[in-house]
Amino acid sequence: MFKIIKVKDYEEMSDKAFDVVKEVVDANPKCVLGLATGSSPVGLYQRMIKDHQENGTSYADVTTFNLDEYCGLPKSHPESYYSFMHRNLFSGLNIPEENIHIPEDGEDKEAKCKEYDASMESYTVDLQVLGIGSNGHIGFNEPGTAFDTKTHIVTLKESTRQDNARFFDSIDKVPTHAITMGIDTIMHAKKIIIVASGANKADAIYAMIHGPKTTDVPASVLQDHPDVVVVVDAEAGKLL
Ligand code: GLP
Repeated sequence: MFKIIKVKDYEEMSDKAFDVVKEVVDANPKCVLGLATGSSPVGLYQRMIKDHQENGTSYADVTTFNLDEYCGLPKSHPESYYSFMHRNLFSGLNIPEENIHIPEDGEDKEAKCKEYDASMESYTVDLQVLGIGSNGHIGFNEPGTAFDTKTHIVTLKESTRQDNARFFDSIDKVPTHAITMGIDTIMHAKKIIIVASGANKADAIYAMIHGPKTTDVPASVLQDHPDVVVVVDAEAGKLL
């Protein structure tokens, strides 16, 4: 079930998303957070850091699981999701490094996927933060991904590589593959918050909520989840 919150702009979207995260962390300081990368949650992460630094909200007992990681980039690459998360969130909070989980690429990709699923096995994600791809992907679950997937390797769609090319020197530098938490795993989170801003997300947001439930729009699977908060700015929500 979707609870839709339409706001004016990115800043207000980040404020609302922060309220949701804060409520979960305050209610249970040992909560498990599922985290996303991309530009959409950066404002939320800034607010979490500010709140931690100014109000002392502690993340010492919080555990996190990230959605995805590029294949073929070393952790130290500035655009690896490992670097992104440390730069935009973890460096400003007090989450112990051993509580942080990010999928890892490796020579034996199958083993790396199994390892990530195993690391999640004894946890239930209390709140999963999601962005959405302009083609409706969640995590890196591209259109066509089965709804029953666990952690797996994906071939990135050309449109996704184009969308993410802004972070790299050129399109050829954008990885072609990624490791991502699967759709089934995402659906097991108790609560989900999805944030989207900008006109290029409007079609995907509309299809997620009002379109048919189809693997062509991976986010449409969320129609079956009992508790999804959707925070959209005016442009991303313009078709709703
Ligand atoms: C990326 C990530 C997703 C993210 C999406 C949108 O490729 N793998 O987790 O939600 O695409 O990114 P952005 O928020 O930058 O638009």
